Amino acid sequence: MCGIVGRITHVPFDIHDILESLKRLEYRGYDSFGIATAEGDVFKATGYIDVHANEIPSRLTSVAISHTRWATHGKVTRENAHPHVSQDGTFFIVHNGIIENHAPLRKALQAAGHTFLSQTDSEVIVHYIEGRVSDGASIDEAIRAFMNEARGTFAALLIRRDDPHIYAFKRDSPLVLGILDDGYAVASDIYAFSDTTTKAVFFEDDEYAVISADSYAFFDARGAPIGKEIATVRWTEAATRDEAYDHFMIKEIHEQPAAARRLILSLENEQAPFMDQLVTLARTANRVLFVAAGTSYHASLIGVYLLNSIGVEAHTLIASEFHNYMLADEGTLVVAISQSGETMDVVKAVKHARSRGSKVASIVNVPYSTIQRLSDISIEILAGQEICVASTKTYTNQILVLARMAQLMGLETDLDAIPDQIEQTLSYAEPAVIAMAPELRDVRDIYVIGRGIAYPLSREVALKLKEISYIHAEGMMGGELKHGTIALIEDGTIVMSFIQNADHDTMSNIEEVEARGARVISISDNSEFSPDFLLPASVPGSFAITATIVGQLFSYYIAREKGLPIDKPRNLAKSVTVK
Ligand code: M6R
Repeated sequence: MCGIVGRITHVPFDIHDILESLKRLEYRGYDSFGIATAEGDVFKATGYIDVHANEIPSRLTSVAISHTRWATHGKVTRENAHPHVSQDGTFFIVHNGIIENHAPLRKALQAAGHTFLSQTDSEVIVHYIEGRVSDGASIDEAIRAFMNEARGTFAALLIRRDDPHIYAFKRDSPLVLGILDDGYAVASDIYAFSDTTTKAVFFEDDEYAVISADSYAFFDARGAPIGKEIATVRWTEAATRDEAYDHFMIKEIHEQPAAARRLILSLENEQAPFMDQLVTLARTANRVLFVAAGTSYHASLIGVYLLNSIGVEAHTLIASEFHNYMLADEGTLVVAISQSGETMDVVKAVKHARSRGSKVASIVNVPYSTIQRLSDISIEILAGQEICVASTKTYTNQILVLARMAQLMGLETDLDAIPDQIEQTLSYAEPAVIAMAPELRDVRDIYVIGRGIAYPLSREVALKLKEISYIHAEGMMGGELKHGTIALIEDGTIVMSFIQNADHDTMSNIEEVEARGARVISISDNSEFSPDFLLPASVPGSFAITATIVGQLFSYYIAREKGLPIDKPRNLAKSVTVK
């Protein structure tokens, strides 16, 4: 995780300008941040940039690097915040990733007289470079030696006091150079500078670059120069706060009808050729294997459900276990689903699948992301930037792509009806959820059940309740309840149940838990069940969206009742770029 931004220009800039860019990467981590300049100034703080930026004095510089952290090694303290400084105070580093062999490297450096000030793995990089340079190596040579010796993942920016260069190197973690009018920016992703340029150069693994205000040069790990293409990236407008909404989460929940309409139009028009290619790959493959994490995994379960319903063999697995439990081979189409396109577990699974000869397709929100660039074919979900850590509109659009894929392969459904259904659901369910939220604010556990298409969405709703409302929630197959979990049902236990169409089996499960004192909140598209929430009659695929929206609203309004930090929940980051 973590976001890094560097900037080097002819005309000096205020360091607060780079903090503005860094703020746009806070979705990658937000427990502490820091900045260093080539004049040797270092400022660090724990907490959000907005809250602490005023503690940092204005300072003009032409070379600076900065970092927003999601702690992996070492607690959230000022000492563990980046940038880290070398022993002699001349080198400064920011790092995203994990140096897996940091312990032996640290030991060797300590034996050579280096004193460490933090508990981070990252600090070894700056001591290592300083050590090599003081032994007579050039900075390039020191970086190459580090890349050769380091195990793990890194995107790192290095500066040296009074040196008009930024040195940037990477393996697995993303890094991109932005070409500005007056110099260069280098950052974890294009959001950091998409307000100022559309010209970008993407780093590949085991490349490094030496960047001055006039020019840049890329090299491979052996030091051979590499020619790089300059990509003209499509404008990636950063989301802005809307005064009508108190949080990005509720804004993004309300963006779902518009985002869905935009995507459906695109899938039927400009992205139609890519959809056709995806379908051709799926038809010619022996089977389709989805791979994803978190919310995107829940969307992939819907994909499996829809494809299996039309006789297409499809499976899915959480990305971190993909290599252990899935047999990807030349006859397999692997479809990676990822909002960010940067989730490390998914990147690793895709690389694994590629190494086994599988074709790879992806469904992503962020264009030019690592997963998109690793794919044979990629569909963009066009949800717009999602700021809240919780996925809402991106989940909906992922499902729409999967429903469109299934439709092109034979599923009879009516995608055009879905945006209206989302609108109806929002305006009908929101007041009811607001009314119920106060009585749920002190609830400790919620069990969420569903069958068929309602099973994955039960898991998604449980995830939302956990990450946003801090309520222990379990999303599970209705049929599984009686195999153990029902032991936990007692007077007043909340069971949220999703019942699609004529699902009498889930109705029976409701009877079973009510008989044991549970308080059931039922959500269905079938009036026969007299649910607490009667949703619009669904078309194939749509219940996965409308029903989940009710769950999104519950998680938002319960969290609001509790006064929780909704957009930036504790311990989380939007883009999980570590294993
Ligand atoms: O960017 P991705 O879709 O690959 O992210 C995967 C998960 O980290 C993500 O879906 C996470 O579970 C959600 N933000 C939860 O709302």
